[in-house]
Amino acid sequence: MTCVKFARASAPAKVMLFGEHFVVYGCPAILGSIDKRVSVTAKQSESAKINISSNMGFLASYSSESLEKPGPQFSEAQNTLYPIYAAVHDVLKDHFEVDGRHHGVEIDIKSDIPWGAGLGSSAASCVASVGAVKSLFLKPEKEWVYSRALGAERIIHENSSGADCNISTFGGLIYYIKDTRNKKISSKAELSLVVLITYIKHSTGSQVSFVKNFRNQNRSLFNDLASRATRVCDKAVSALRSGDVIKLGELMNENHMLLKDLGVSNDEINDLIRFCLDNGATGAKLTGAGGGGSVVALLSNENQTSFIRKMGKKGLRQSFPVRIGSYGLLIE
Ligand code: MEV
Repeated sequence: MTCVKFARASAPAKVMLFGEHFVVYGCPAILGSIDKRVSVTAKQSESAKINISSNMGFLASYSSESLEKPGPQFSEAQNTLYPIYAAVHDVLKDHFEVDGRHHGVEIDIKSDIPWGAGLGSSAASCVASVGAVKSLFLKPEKEWVYSRALGAERIIHENSSGADCNISTFGGLIYYIKDTRNKKISSKAELSLVVLITYIKHSTGSQVSFVKNFRNQNRSLFNDLASRATRVCDKAVSALRSGDVIKLGELMNENHMLLKDLGVSNDEINDLIRFCLDNGATGAKLTGAGGGGSVVALLSNENQTSFIRKMGKKGLRQSFPVRIGSYGLLIE
């Protein structure tokens, strides 16, 4: 089998504008890729190892032979990078089943996506890693990359809706329902969005488990919140299509209230949202799994710079404008 010595791929981060958590249970979500990316270089190596390094300060080494299972012997870096390892191992497996040789790879990740901030850094790293490693052998289709990256995500979060891997692979602004094809939304308005990062790290897996328990214990309340979230999401599609930014902001606020009732917000996030609304945002909500992570605010005008300056005065250094709709997976 012929294969190249190295290959490179990149994939974008995302913001979830509507529907997080409810999407895990079959409700729709709206999300967009943003202009922050992770870029992965994959290099063939002679050893039967999968070595992963990243500019986020993690460095981990695993076997490329049988898939290692996480356990007490794992370092923090090995746990953090595990979905990427699982994805890469799965891709390599196809090849050593064909040529009987245990391929090794060096994976180098360069990311400008804040880690653990609800912006899909883990999914983007999986998508770009699968794209780069497969390209050592042949150029993959996006559908194929998506299914492999999602398979790896589901090793960690078995209930993952697939939304993060989907948007990172295909890009754009999409209406997404679990296990179906996404639909592109064309927005009449250029959305003026700002992301604000809380300093509270969160784990998507534990937030998703929290919601699972909530749903088990409060089924009728959960069903009521989920049907309201579905209505909000459907109205948001109309607001995007007609370019009604004021309505869209109101719907974001409504969505945040539903997430608050679900128990995935906290005081810091709620204070931050209040501050955004008091300083000119038409809408603001948590984005992603909550419990920390990030807030996304929609402004009624283009004045992101003065809004960010005001956030800076509150001591929020980590706030930045985002542009929706960047390319999905790119293989160089
Ligand atoms: C995480 O970015 C979004 C969640 O809805 C989980 C999922 O969709 O799998 C919280």
